[in-house]
Amino acid sequence: MTGEAPRWLALGEDALPDGSGWLSSAEAERAAGRRHRKRHTEYLLRRLVAKRAVAAVLGRPVTPVALAGVEVANAPGGAPEVFVDGTPAGLDVSISDRAGWAVCVVGRGVGCDLELVEPRSPGFVRDFLTGSEQRLVAEWPPDDEGAPATLIWSAKESALKALRTGLDRDTRQVEVSPGAAASGGWAPLTVRVAEGCPLTGWWRRYGRFVLTMAGRTASLPPVALGDPAGLAAASPRHSWLDRPLR
Ligand SMILES: CC(C)(COP(=O)(O)OP(=O)(O)OC[C@H]1O[C@@H](n2cnc3c(N)ncnc32)[C@H](O)[C@@H]1OP(=O)(O)O)[C@@H](O)C(=O)NCCC(=O)NCCS
Repeated sequence: MTGEAPRWLALGEDALPDGSGWLSSAEAERAAGRRHRKRHTEYLLRRLVAKRAVAAVLGRPVTPVALAGVEVANAPGGAPEVFVDGTPAGLDVSISDRAGWAVCVVGRGVGCDLELVEPRSPGFVRDFLTGSEQRLVAEWPPDDEGAPATLIWSAKESALKALRTGLDRDTRQVEVSPGAAASGGWAPLTVRVAEGCPLTGWWRRYGRFVLTMAGRTASLPPVALGDPAGLAAASPRHSWLDRPLR
C-alpha cells in the first residue's frame, strides 16, 4: 500500500435493496441458506458494501444487474475474493459489519474491522490483550469507557484479517500500538506480529463506532468513497431481535 490510500465505504441496513437481483447466483444461494435473520442480514449487508465499494473504485454502474456481476466470494479460510463478470478483479478487499452497519476497504493486503464502542469486561482485557495493551487501557482517560479496549480489539481483528488467519490464533500474538487521535481525523497504528514484520494502519472514531485497518505496507490516510456522516451519526441497530427467524 506504499503511497496509496485505502479507499473505504460504509453502508447501513437501510441501503439494502429489495429482492435478490443484485446478488450473483452463488451469493443468492448462500444468503438463502441463512435461516437466522441476523446472519442473513449481515451477509447481505457485507455483500452490498463490498460490491458498491468495488463498483466505485472500478467506475462501474450500481444497477442491480451490474452489482450482480461483482461477486464477493470467500477463499477456503474465509478471506473475501472479488470477481467481476466471472474474472478475478485484481483488487484486495476487507469487509466488516457491526450493529446494522458494514464497511468495505479496498487496498492492497488490507484488513479492516468495524466495532461498536462499548464497555469490555476486566476478563476480556486480561484474556485477549497483551500486558502493554492492558497498561494502555488502564491509562486511557476514564470518561471514554470501553474505547481503548474496543480500539485495540478492532485493530487486532484488522491485523488478523490482513494476515488472513482470522481469530483462530491467540490474539496476544499481535500487539497493537495506537497513535493519538488527530483532532477527529485518522490516527496511525502499528501492530507487532509475533512471527514477522509489523503491520501499519489507521484508526478513527465515527460516533458510537471505531473503524480500524491494517496492512503489511505503509499507506496514506484512508479516503472515503461515500459520505461517512451516516456512520458518524448512526445508532447501533439490532433489527433482527424482533424476528430472529426469517
Ligand atoms: C475473520 C473474523 C476475525 C471475522 O470477524 P467477525 O467479527 O466475526 O466479523 P466481521 O464482520 O468483522 O468480518 C467478517 C468478514 O471477515 C472476512 N474474513 C473471514 N475470514 C477471514 C480471514 N481468514 N482472513 C481475512 N478476512 C476474513 C470475510 O470477508 C467475512 O465476511 P464474509 O464471510 O461475508 O465475506 C472471525 O470470523 C474469525 O476469526 N473466524 C475464525 C476463522 C473462521 O471461522 N474461518 C471461517 C472458515 S470458512
